[in-house]
Amino acid sequence: MPGQKKLTELSKETLYLRQNLFYESAYDTGVTPWSGGGGPSPELVQSLKKSAKKLALKRALDLGCGNGRHSVYLHSNGFKVIGIEYQSKALLSAQGGGQPGLLYVQGDIYRAPLKEKSFDVVIDYGVFHHIRRRDTAVYIDFLESMLIPGGLLFLECFGSKFKHGNGKIYKRGYVVHKNHYDRFSGKSEIRRIFSKNFTVLELDEKKDALLHAVMRLRD
Ligand SMILES: C[S@@+](CC[C@H](N)C(=O)[O-])C[C@H]1O[C@@H](n2cnc3c(N)ncnc32)[C@H](O)[C@@H]1O
Repeated sequence: MPGQKKLTELSKETLYLRQNLFYESAYDTGVTPWSGGGGPSPELVQSLKKSAKKLALKRALDLGCGNGRHSVYLHSNGFKVIGIEYQSKALLSAQGGGQPGLLYVQGDIYRAPLKEKSFDVVIDYGVFHHIRRRDTAVYIDFLESMLIPGGLLFLECFGSKFKHGNGKIYKRGYVVHKNHYDRFSGKSEIRRIFSKNFTVLELDEKKDALLHAVMRLRD
């Protein structure tokens, strides 16, 4: 899109620099509720069973991989995986790095030295919901650029009824607080913003008010 920002430009913006600090502090203090018990999201497990068999090749990119819980799961299911994460502390507890087919890269997604169109699967469990609404198109372009045509995107993000730590539901769809930006997306928003180039295969707002989606990049 002419005039559209590049992802690399976002990485220099104050909001995203602050967000990096927010995550640094979370891993420093060990307050990382998203890691759950360390196992993969049950939705990823279920959806992968349905869709991954259809993939001829199995190269996966785990964006913002944290402690690697999904990278490990994908790897144990036959995927060649790259997990990218900017917090070194998170990667310290990531299992299995260096085994054939499992590589953790410490770096900023927005400036990642990743080869375009080289992944059959991209997973985003917790990055998209920190992308400011006005930067949505830039981020979706990036997701598309990583996937082969026909490749699958697995997404988990805050749904529209997600209650934040303070118990509030932000009806305007976003909040900027504690050095980071959170957006809350309902099913219709996800359909609207991804439908240009993706076919939505699965879309659920879950009981815990996270939203889970599986989308296929059209050929
Ligand atoms: C909500 S956590 C989820 C971690 C992991 N995906 C999981 O489900 O356990 C989001 C992760 O993305 C990482 N992250 C956010 N923005 C990033 C960026 N621009 N580059 C690299 N990592 C990023 C954070 O450090 C954090 O570990």
